[in-house]
Amino acid sequence: MLHLWSAKLETGLPKIDEQHKELFRQVGVLMDRTKAKADRIPETVNFLGDYVLMHFNDEQGLHASVQYPKAAAHKKQHIAFIAKFSELKKKLGDSGDNLQFEVMTEINSTAIGWLKDHIMVHDKEFADYYKQRQARLPRGGPSAPRAAPKAAPRLWRPELETGIPKLDERFQEMFRQAEILLDKDKAGLAGETISSLGEYMAKHFRAEERVQAGLGYPAAQAHQRSHNDFIRKYKNINLKLTAANPGDRQKMTTDIGRGLTTWLKGHIITQDQDFAAYYKKNRQGGQKGRGFLYRLFQFLTRRQD
Ligand SMILES: [Fe+2]
Ligand SMILES: [Fe+2]
Ligand SMILES: [Fe+2]
Repeated sequence: MLHLWSAKLETGLPKIDEQHKELFRQVGVLMDRTKAKADRIPETVNFLGDYVLMHFNDEQGLHASVQYPKAAAHKKQHIAFIAKFSELKKKLGDSGDNLQFEVMTEINSTAIGWLKDHIMVHDKEFADYYKQRQARLPRGGPSAPRAAPKAAPRLWRPELETGIPKLDERFQEMFRQAEILLDKDKAGLAGETISSLGEYMAKHFRAEERVQAGLGYPAAQAHQRSHNDFIRKYKNINLKLTAANPGDRQKMTTDIGRGLTTWLKGHIITQDQDFAAYYKKNRQGGQKGRGFLYRLFQFLTRRQD
């Protein structure tokens, strides 16, 4: 029953592709009038409904695992399909034998049409995001496992160092990502980079703020305001970019890359270095304090996924 399936529906995520094929197989069973004997219809329709739910759940779980920015809109699509499917299922239950075939045809065309459109556009878009993200960002974002040290990014300057290696590593990763935005040859990666970099930074900010709060850092509030200010502006710019004409996007992307590195340099020099100095001073406290700070530092750098 795989004739409904075609290679262009492949997302490249094996588990998702397997589930999509199974969905088409089930719809195929319903379409085959020799197999879809009247008494088997309700069973197959029920199975299809359950399988769809399971599949949507798996997909949404995958969205959450990588903080997919379009997860909410995608989920809305799933919910709309479930609503439509339930309505048709009810109609099927209510229809007499003579109407069953018509309702069945409606279920089939709805299911096939919707699945194809949805997979082609939305599931594939997610699959691309997922694959790019797996390939480029260290797993777990800010608390990436410490593999071989990477070369310092081009825009990095020694005076930006805070003296806390884990913080410096993260800042360098932000610069590395920002450099993708400044590179015209990587224009295709811009949209995804802007989203993943925004998440990476937001995660890092929250971790930094937790440590500051835990240490009673006196400038914690002002520091947090600076983070929040940045996140708000960044979101606005990203929205504008999404709405912009394709012709304007390249310049906007470069501006975002420049604005971001300028902000980051300013923030590191005026605020993060101040915090780093405070952190280092307080870390040198007594044995007891050391243990506590050590745990906080572990907290700052732990895996967050
Ligand atoms: Fe989906
Ligand atoms: Fe799907
Ligand atoms: Fe900061």
